[in-house]
Amino acid sequence: MNNSFPENFLWGAASSAFQIEGGWDEDGKGMTVADFNSFKRSDKQADSKVASDFYHHWKEDIALMKEMGLKVYRFSISWARIIPDGDGEINQKGIDFYNNVINELLANGIMPLITLYHFDLPYALVEKYNGWESRDCAYAFERYAKVCYKEFGDRVKHWLVHNEQNLMIRVDERMNITEPDPWKADKQRAQMDYHMFLAHALAVNACHELVEGGKIGPAVSSTCTYPLTNKPEDVWAAKMNDFFKTEYCLDMHYYGRYPGYYMRYLKERNIVPEMKEGDEELLKSAKMDFIALNYYRTLCASYLPADEEHPVGMRVYRGNEVDFDQYGYCRDEKNTNLESSEYGAQIDPMGLRIVLNNYYSKYHLPLIITENGLGTPDKLTEDGHIHDNYRIDYLRGHLEAMALAIEDGVDLRGYCPWSVVDLLSSHQGFRKRYGFVYINREDMDLKDLSRIPKDSFYWYKKVISSNGAER
Ligand code: BG6
Repeated sequence: MNNSFPENFLWGAASSAFQIEGGWDEDGKGMTVADFNSFKRSDKQADSKVASDFYHHWKEDIALMKEMGLKVYRFSISWARIIPDGDGEINQKGIDFYNNVINELLANGIMPLITLYHFDLPYALVEKYNGWESRDCAYAFERYAKVCYKEFGDRVKHWLVHNEQNLMIRVDERMNITEPDPWKADKQRAQMDYHMFLAHALAVNACHELVEGGKIGPAVSSTCTYPLTNKPEDVWAAKMNDFFKTEYCLDMHYYGRYPGYYMRYLKERNIVPEMKEGDEELLKSAKMDFIALNYYRTLCASYLPADEEHPVGMRVYRGNEVDFDQYGYCRDEKNTNLESSEYGAQIDPMGLRIVLNNYYSKYHLPLIITENGLGTPDKLTEDGHIHDNYRIDYLRGHLEAMALAIEDGVDLRGYCPWSVVDLLSSHQGFRKRYGFVYINREDMDLKDLSRIPKDSFYWYKKVISSNGAER
């Protein structure tokens, strides 16, 4: 098989703090928005209290990463472990925990790639000023980021700011938006999004100041939308769906200003966020070094005209919290050409090739994939194996697409599938598994939490040792 992967390609895997760590209130950690939301469902499915119990299994898990041959491990730091109430005292025990993890990774030849914020805002900041709605949250984030750079920046050179700001902002629960009036909710959302952009810029600049040789970028939830038909209106709708769900965010990071179509939307909807003098300079000064992207599926759209009841720009969520219809722009559709996962994600390796080419040709920055994977229940056989060939097929298809994108000239530096071991789904408990390693627990039964490498673990090990040639 033709091998296109460069020699120093970063083969990795990914996770996030609230989904893997557990120990949710141990050693001084504060509660987070992610904890709060997961506890709402504690009677029905797993929550963040124990998750995969990485907090007590980190040594064993890093040994497995080493066995798999990982070159990089993408994980997140829990802000509330470092600063339990978000902007107050620093918790030395939290710092000690991440120092142990970082040192163990390095001792095993694995590069840490750290996300500063993965859906887990300290809950105290929600109580204090409704989190991102306040500009103060951006400064609290800057302070937290600086603590991380000072404590870990001598060894950690690669950083991600927010995980999926562009998707997080669409999920009311994660942002703590409870406003029933759609216009007021959109206004709040726009202000929160803007403050997150400021926080991103502050964190990028602080990284460049404080971390010698530090490189930093955003981790976006990538989208690729196909038109339902070849009608020009549908083609435009598909483009706008990508613009509104992802590319406005990348443009804001890259150019330090909202693109024209986005500003038009904010104005027409009358929700332009409050901005202060000096913000534009700040946003423009923060230069990301690379773009990290998460990719799971593709989307499909048709044109949705506005009418008297539904003004231009109004968004409506149909059936899920991430894909909206937008009057005057686009309607979310099903693509009948694609198969879906058990959880409804339309599986499409070709879409990854399109996304990689699109972002690279637009921004000319190195790219790294920080999430990609198949969420599905796995079955432990009686003799203790997990034959997850469906996961291998999914990953193999996407590796093929990456190889083609590299041949197309895309500067793709690494691949961190989701997830390193089974972990808590962002909102669907523990039944929906993504890992290379099975964690022996069920939603409502912790069992023994033992670690069992799946067939995909051994397959990925071969992929890595052959630098992608055997796949
Ligand atoms: C990404 C998130 O959007 O999707 C992860 O960054 C999440 O945190 C992943 O786990 C898969 O989604 P889910 O809902 O299946 O866990």
